Amino acid sequence: MKTTPNDFPISETIKNRWSPRVFAAKEMTKDEVQILLEAGRWAPSSNNLQPWRIIWGIKGSDTYDRIFNCLADFNKQWAGNAQVLWACAFKKTMKDGEKENFHALHDLGLFMGNVSNQAQEMGIALHQMAGIDFKKAGKEFNFTEEYHVATAVAFGYYGGDASSLPKDLQDPETKTMRERIKQDDFAFNGNFK
Ligand SMILES: Cc1cc2nc3c(=O)[nH]c(=O)nc-3n(C[C@H](O)[C@H](O)[C@H](O)COP(=O)(O)O)c2cc1C
Repeated sequence: MKTTPNDFPISETIKNRWSPRVFAAKEMTKDEVQILLEAGRWAPSSNNLQPWRIIWGIKGSDTYDRIFNCLADFNKQWAGNAQVLWACAFKKTMKDGEKENFHALHDLGLFMGNVSNQAQEMGIALHQMAGIDFKKAGKEFNFTEEYHVATAVAFGYYGGDASSLPKDLQDPETKTMRERIKQDDFAFNGNFK
């Protein structure tokens, strides 16, 4: 459990979420994965284009191993602790297949925001990763040039033993106080700075 020093009152779901690198041994089911995907499905998106595309695999499956093999070495150190792995891509173009959808990455973020809140309410933690070889993953899972693999995500129930992590990853795992920049540094009631 981490401490979130929020300056204003926020929902418990948002307050209690954090991104662990170890997870409980409790297995995750296909039903749970589909609940998470369903939460993402109802996210808003620009023009309702729903540009998100998700490859998912449960631990022990071929797909899980194939996602794992696309991760950056840093993430390979710990992401095998996850019960479920996703590779998350977005469609770069609009319906006409030519015009770029500038908001697709934004929409994938909204999708993941929904997934994140749903998971938190189910006691499931997730850890998103930019560290995935997007070219390798694109090829591995048959994405065409119209798609970009943006992230991977590790899922599992909160729990697990931080001492099983490599030494340099134990500190961030056990540090209790979470940190954020102040509102004054990113929100402006008028001009930017
Ligand atoms: C898009 C995105 C990419 C991230 N990439 C990585 C990554 O490759 N490896 C990693 O260990 N953590 C990664 N993180 C986790 C962040 O470091 C983490 O969310 C941040 O430090 C805030 O911590 P919290 O989620 O526990 O509040 C990523 C998070 C996001 C949202």
